[in-house]
Amino acid sequence: MKKNVLTGLRPTGNLHLGHYFGAVTNFIKLQKTYNVFIEIADVQALTDNFNNPAKVRKNVREITIDLLSSGVDPDKCHLFIQSMVPEIAELTVFYSNLVTIARLYRNPTIKTEIKQKKELFGNSGESVTYGFLGYPVSQAADITALNGALVPVGDDQLPILEQTREIIRKFNHIYGETLTEPEHLLTTSSRIKGLDGNEKMGKSLGNAVFLTDTDEEITKKIMAAVTDPNKIKKDDKANPHICMVYYYHKLLSTNNLETIEQECQNGHRGCVACKKELIENLLSMLKPIREKRNYYENHPNIVDNILKEGTYAAQKVASEVMEKVKENMQIKYFDE
Ligand code: TRP
Repeated sequence: MKKNVLTGLRPTGNLHLGHYFGAVTNFIKLQKTYNVFIEIADVQALTDNFNNPAKVRKNVREITIDLLSSGVDPDKCHLFIQSMVPEIAELTVFYSNLVTIARLYRNPTIKTEIKQKKELFGNSGESVTYGFLGYPVSQAADITALNGALVPVGDDQLPILEQTREIIRKFNHIYGETLTEPEHLLTTSSRIKGLDGNEKMGKSLGNAVFLTDTDEEITKKIMAAVTDPNKIKKDDKANPHICMVYYYHKLLSTNNLETIEQECQNGHRGCVACKKELIENLLSMLKPIREKRNYYENHPNIVDNILKEGTYAAQKVASEVMEKVKENMQIKYFDE
């Protein structure tokens, strides 16, 4: 039996290069060996966006198309919609008894996110909803409903995984051995640097290059990328290892990397030419992705069918897990 891999993405915007290099390339490898479930976490997205359902709805399909066009194979991976697996919501309710409010406030991911929200929207702890505070509980439900043995996440999500394991241990201790603790697989999606030199590429940081950006947007963003600040003139010698353009040449695994490095160090490579070369390489990497996107945009039924099939597969696993959970919690009242 192949192990189940379960990961989730919040449908709040299109995927960017950070997701692509940090996470999607990893899913593509995992789909060869494991039974991969990718959850489009619309319920979780609504915890922050409950007042903007149209945005979440639109991005469920957008993210699905991004994933499919960048190489996620629907014959190998199950892409499913969180809200359509009601067992996840049921488990969330059961698990909520096993978690204290104080423990949720202590979760480092939640702590950071609350702090960021306060910076954005002003003080008032009042704005923290029950749903938002509880999203680690609902994420524990995501993972266990799908029998996720391996969970690819960025390092910002590790505290949530730790809390999932705690919930599982407590559940098993009280109701008997039912659920298995997942292992995490570290992806680097939150650790692909931005072209501005920021440690992280992110939509909210305003430094993201999206898979759906136009040639003009990509050109503009790369031309503005941060290079070695000591290099003033075209033929000054520079250090490629502090240059974001070189960093992206590396991510694209350009075959002339060594030449780029040496030319930069020897002062034989101007930044403008180097950026133009990166733009060209990036556009050719994106070409097949854009072609596939175009195909899926023109065949919305195919996208919907992939989501339906993936959701059926997820529902099947979740209903089996639920049987066992209810039986062990002594809330299975009738045989059929
Ligand atoms: N919280 C994750 C993020 O923001 C997304 C997510 C939802 C997830 N459910 C999940 C990740 C289950 C792993 C497993 O990136």
